[in-house]
Amino acid sequence: MPISVVTSDLTRLPRDAIVNAANSALLGGGGVDGAIHRAAGPGLLEACKALPQVAPGVRCPTGEARITPGFLLPARYVIHTVGPVWHGGHRGEAGLLAQCYRSCIALANEHAIASIAFPAISCGVYGYPPEQAARVAIATLRKIAPDAMDVQLCCYDAHMASIWQDALNRA
Ligand code: APR
Repeated sequence: MPISVVTSDLTRLPRDAIVNAANSALLGGGGVDGAIHRAAGPGLLEACKALPQVAPGVRCPTGEARITPGFLLPARYVIHTVGPVWHGGHRGEAGLLAQCYRSCIALANEHAIASIAFPAISCGVYGYPPEQAARVAIATLRKIAPDAMDVQLCCYDAHMASIWQDALNRA
């Protein structure tokens, strides 16, 4: 499958789906989550609220994913996933991060999504070192994304994009 790195605001990409780096409440937040909710409009928050809680206040446990429409976004769907908080790398962070990518691709397959863009899940507020996150993301996607799916890895700035492009070149 084609995997490419793009430098962009994720909310502007006209993909079948964009992925949100959310928290388990799925009620919005800062970073890319805040940007997606602002660009999608209030319908997105209503759709997230309508998702069932699997534990008090938890609509999506770490490593899992949920799907909603994109509302005012150019993307048709938003796939919300919850990355791990970085605690130094010995608390299963890499496995949980890989699980995020697997969960998102599984939902994309179920919804016949042919083009998808991921942000650098966990690499902001959650503190995951981007070089390591990029390796996990690319190795996982190479294994599981279908040949026909067009996958973009969306970085917000040129520095982050160079880290991800480097990881892609080495993979
Ligand atoms: N487009 C693309 N990438 C973006 C955008 C955007 N509009 N805004 C931020 N980013 C990048 C950040 O620069 C970072 O590299 O997304 C990456 C992920 O950062 P965060 O959004 O902080 O996500 P994460 O580290 O997974 O933390 C999730 O942050 O906003 C809260 O509700 C969210 O609590 C959750 C936590």
